[in-house]
Amino acid sequence: MKIVIIGANGTIGQSVAKRLEQEGHELIKVGKSSGQYQVNIEDAKSVAELYRKIGSFDAVVNASGDLAFAPFADITQAQWELGLSSKLMGQVNLVQQALPYIREKGSFTLVSGVLSDEPIFAGVAATMVNKALEGFVQAVAFELPKGLRINLVSPTVLEESLPAYGAFFKGFTPTNGARVADAYLRSVAGIQTGRIYVVNG
Ligand SMILES: NC(=O)c1ccc[n+]([C@@H]2O[C@H](COP(=O)([O-])OP(=O)(O)OC[C@H]3O[C@@H](n4cnc5c(N)ncnc54)[C@H](OP(=O)(O)O)[C@@H]3O)[C@@H](O)[C@H]2O)c1
Repeated sequence: MKIVIIGANGTIGQSVAKRLEQEGHELIKVGKSSGQYQVNIEDAKSVAELYRKIGSFDAVVNASGDLAFAPFADITQAQWELGLSSKLMGQVNLVQQALPYIREKGSFTLVSGVLSDEPIFAGVAATMVNKALEGFVQAVAFELPKGLRINLVSPTVLEESLPAYGAFFKGFTPTNGARVADAYLRSVAGIQTGRIYVVNG
């Protein structure tokens, strides 16, 4: 399959790209500043332009989307907006703008995270956005044309990310990139749609 992978050079993206390449898929690697193509997922026009340049493809796999961590009492408008415009609407943009280009029976794989089910201090925006992504995937699965499928991978914190995020996740057993990549592969290669693949440690 020809697969567009957004965030291919990130922590999750690198593991997912390696796994999909091992399976023999052709990858189009995309980042904000890295990769074969660049895109800003927050901007629907930028996403449409990316797909126009690539042409047709069989799957979109996303491993990007930012949000802010801050105590609820202190979170700023800009911090709310980051999660909404990047992690939430960025992924909606990746799905909606792909519809003219993705082939029949193609698939989308998006990413949320453990905070949808397990809130932590300073994680209100993350829980809110991850829950919204679950709702999006569960609802849009019924409306996608062309026999398209969509699933959401919801990993706990990765071992590889503990230096950056470990302080937020005290007592959480981490997973790793290879296990997260399995969930992405299950979404791309399987038959299911509207599913949330939780990856625990
Ligand atoms: N790491 C974890 O433990 C963990 C656990 C659960 C969920 N998640 C979620 O998984 C996703 C990826 O996490 P990660 O840790 O792998 O992130 P990461 O290492 O920071 O990598 C992010 C990737 O996304 C790209 N990117 C960032 N903003 C973008 C934008 N506006 N438009 C297009 N591409 C953009 C970056 O491009 P460049 O390469 O050009 O910089 C980079 O390749 C995030 O949504 C995160 O919340 C992560």
